[in-house]
Amino acid sequence: MAETLRPGGRGPTQPACLILFGATGDLARRKLLPALFALRRHGLAAAVHILGFAREDHPVAEFRGIVDRAIADSGVSGAQDQDARATFTAEVDYLAGDFGAPEAYTEIARRLGGEGSPPRRLLYLATPPPLYPEIVERLGRAGLSRPPATGGWTRIVIEKPFGTDLASAQALNRRLHRYFREGQVHRIDHYMGKETVQNVLVFRFANGLFEPVWNRNYVDHVQITAAETLGVEGRGAYYEGAGALRDMVQNHLLQLLSLVAMEPPIAFSADDVRDRKVEILRSIHPLSPEEVARYVVRGQYIGGRDGGGGSACGYREEPGVRTDSGTETFVAARLQIDNWRWAGVPFFLRTGKRLPCRVAEIAIEFKRPPQLLFSGTGAGRLRPNVLVLRIQPEEGIFLRFGAKAPGQDIEIVPVEMDFAYGARFGEPVLDAYARLLLDALYGDATLFTRADEAEAAWRIVDSIHAGWAAGSAASGPQPYPAGSWGPPAAARLLSRAGRRWRRPETARADPSR
Ligand code: BG6
Repeated sequence: MAETLRPGGRGPTQPACLILFGATGDLARRKLLPALFALRRHGLAAAVHILGFAREDHPVAEFRGIVDRAIADSGVSGAQDQDARATFTAEVDYLAGDFGAPEAYTEIARRLGGEGSPPRRLLYLATPPPLYPEIVERLGRAGLSRPPATGGWTRIVIEKPFGTDLASAQALNRRLHRYFREGQVHRIDHYMGKETVQNVLVFRFANGLFEPVWNRNYVDHVQITAAETLGVEGRGAYYEGAGALRDMVQNHLLQLLSLVAMEPPIAFSADDVRDRKVEILRSIHPLSPEEVARYVVRGQYIGGRDGGGGSACGYREEPGVRTDSGTETFVAARLQIDNWRWAGVPFFLRTGKRLPCRVAEIAIEFKRPPQLLFSGTGAGRLRPNVLVLRIQPEEGIFLRFGAKAPGQDIEIVPVEMDFAYGARFGEPVLDAYARLLLDALYGDATLFTRADEAEAAWRIVDSIHAGWAAGSAASGPQPYPAGSWGPPAAARLLSRAGRRWRRPETARADPSR
């Protein structure tokens, strides 16, 4: 029997309809349908009726086959239980139509208005992002943005990327707000659903020990890394228009940065938390072209290693990518938060495809002690204290400090205190998408991006794009071999400031790295 979970004592959600726009797409198949299945299996969203909507003309039986395969291939817990899949897929519905056709929305409204249909509707936009404005408009005109007349609620979930720059994000927000109240809108960033990302808040605000040193007096700098070994995996056409800055920095990395840097919220409620996060984004001033040239490095992978010991082609050889592409697959940046707590503390961000390992972590490096007592003991070479919040893999929290090696002499070596999430709690039962879907069904928007937050992040990212556009053609992305830590300029970004990047792939085995 499937395990039944009661996270936070919230219990299963009430019966609802989930209308999945883009139901046959990559995201729906890889993430959303398996996540919905997982929720059902754990008894958390048992009565969610799914209506898939997409362009492709499938009879419902064929769509159910797609759903079944998607779950079977997903590796989600229980996916190999054929009976469980059969029960789940038998209840899934499908509607084929054009996203811009008013009659499709009339049909959705008709199906939702049927007798016994629960008056709670979650509209999930998992289509290509250029379709969002049109879908929102059609939903609004068809009256589908309003809560059903019989009570209940209507909410909308929108996948990233939310716009391609500040102007398009503002336009999309305006369009949304024409028909939806902000409280109905859930802009999803799946990093926020990762168990250990939420742990950042708990670690900071449920413990008295670290918060007093969480500021410019004790912290030397912060490094945020989200590295992948994969390349663009057949998404070349999308990635060409996005690049690492839009794909990862605007959302995932700036979200991590705001969680680690924010002031304590008044309460753990959606607006209190997001008020504090948006303050951080607003405290990062848009960069001037000179600052972009000095503090932002962009790279593009060329042929090299693929992370599994094999060889990998260069980005420009990937399908769907221009042979003279100027799109960045790597970004490293130094940002400054201009507020009382963080004045003078650099925040270094880096992300990229085809890097040596898959890792996402936040490392807080502390200042050295004011005086080194132990001369001639290796203390001069001692690495500073570092606290690492590891988001994936090997989720956990590690603290590096100096210890005396056993023996007659005082020899100081770096060691680690180590909390491994998996060893203590086992693997997280729900993945990021399942957790966030559940929150959307409960109407808890804490982990979703608010309109002003998305816009504040775009302001920073736009300034970097503007800086790049103002630079000479020769200052385009610098090549780095697949399987390396980005172009040499990324290392210089830190060495110029007297710091160096962590090497997360070896740091656990050798804390001196
Ligand atoms: C997505 C990006 O948002 O995040 C992808 O569009 C990236 O390019 C992915 O691969 C990384 O997510 P995760 O959960 O694998 O770290």
